[in-house]
Amino acid sequence: MRFVDLIARKRDGRPLSPEELDFAVEGMTSGAVPDYQASALLMAITLQGMTDDETAALTDAMLRSGDRVDLSGIPGIKVGKHSTGGVGDKVSIVLAPLAAACGAIVPKMSGRGLGHTGGTLDKLESIPGFRVDLTIAEFKAVVREVGTCIIGQTARLVPADKKLYGLRDVTGTIDSIPLISSSIMSKKLAEGSNALVLDVKCGDGAFMRDRQGAQALAQSMVAIGHHAGVRTEAVITDMDTPLGAAVGNSLEIAESIDMLRGAGPADLTAVVTHLASRMLVLGGIESDAHAAASLVGRALASGKGLETFARMIDRQGGDARVVDDRTLLPAAPGRERLTASRSGYVTRLGAQAIGRAANALGAGRRQLGDAVDSAVGIVAMVKAGDAVGEGQPLLELHHRDGRGLAAALAACREAITIGDTAPAPRPKILGEVR
Ligand code: URA
Repeated sequence: MRFVDLIARKRDGRPLSPEELDFAVEGMTSGAVPDYQASALLMAITLQGMTDDETAALTDAMLRSGDRVDLSGIPGIKVGKHSTGGVGDKVSIVLAPLAAACGAIVPKMSGRGLGHTGGTLDKLESIPGFRVDLTIAEFKAVVREVGTCIIGQTARLVPADKKLYGLRDVTGTIDSIPLISSSIMSKKLAEGSNALVLDVKCGDGAFMRDRQGAQALAQSMVAIGHHAGVRTEAVITDMDTPLGAAVGNSLEIAESIDMLRGAGPADLTAVVTHLASRMLVLGGIESDAHAAASLVGRALASGKGLETFARMIDRQGGDARVVDDRTLLPAAPGRERLTASRSGYVTRLGAQAIGRAANALGAGRRQLGDAVDSAVGIVAMVKAGDAVGEGQPLLELHHRDGRGLAAALAACREAITIGDTAPAPRPKILGEVR
């Protein structure tokens, strides 16, 4: 088999067989295939697309490039969750302990911030002492004991994705549904869960900006899950505007704790409740979503979800007292408020610009390996649709000695629009693929 023939076949829009995809993935991961040929194949895939069968075969080849976590020693259905990433997206931090408090088993491997989006691992690391680098044996022990554990992916999980993602990042081949879905799903399948709920974000602050793209990505990932024998569902949720009020690492942990106390913002509560309910159904805890939603509501009201979060923090080396005392979380010394220049309605609060503003303050990375500032970020004091008066505070920026403040203020001004009429309310749950 010659790699150049595979490139030409894909260039001409013809499908590749599982054997050819195995050969391609093996060659690209081991380095036997030079980066220029690998990049040419990635571009051909981006331009020509792939059938569902090809995408499943590509995912399978990537999955087999590394280790797969064996969770079979933990009894019960293990339910994973993945978000395609957004701004203010603290869903996993609330959802994993909440679903575990309702009886689900939720082993979770998460990522770091990417571009303007935040990362669950960066947020959790703002809790003093919290470790995301547990060994697989420690991970399993915490899942067994607490019902959930959130760590980072180990280097041995899907090395093919590490290689391909690096090439895609610099060859204009990130925006390809088969490449995105095989990248995400190979890692999710390697985590060893038997069921999976995907939160596919859609809108200004998401990878998929329009509904059609989000639907296609959701369908592609669900098809891969089913091919691999893992019960998979996707929920398409709005990411036009940040989720909740807080954007920034420790600020989002504080808001997650509020939510687990039953005092979360309405949009976050809606998304978490919906996803948790689907996880309970897939995990065999409840037979219908209605009963599952009321179980989730009881776990919030009783504080059981918060208790589970505190146990998870403790077992992962963190200071669990943060759930009762937020002064233990890092806080930025500076505050600056952006106020309304006129009265009217907030017609837009753009997630992407708010994410960029938080990053300018230091909440995210400019380059791989940069340290993030756990304390800085933005708290939205209004939501899209709110009526505001001239001079009313709209956003509060938490900064460290003015670092990045001018750029952050400029991005915040770009994010927010005030108009004369209230916009139509936009639902948080936009669709589902089962
Ligand atoms: N997240 C991933 O893990 N892979 C992609 O290709 C895009 C987002």
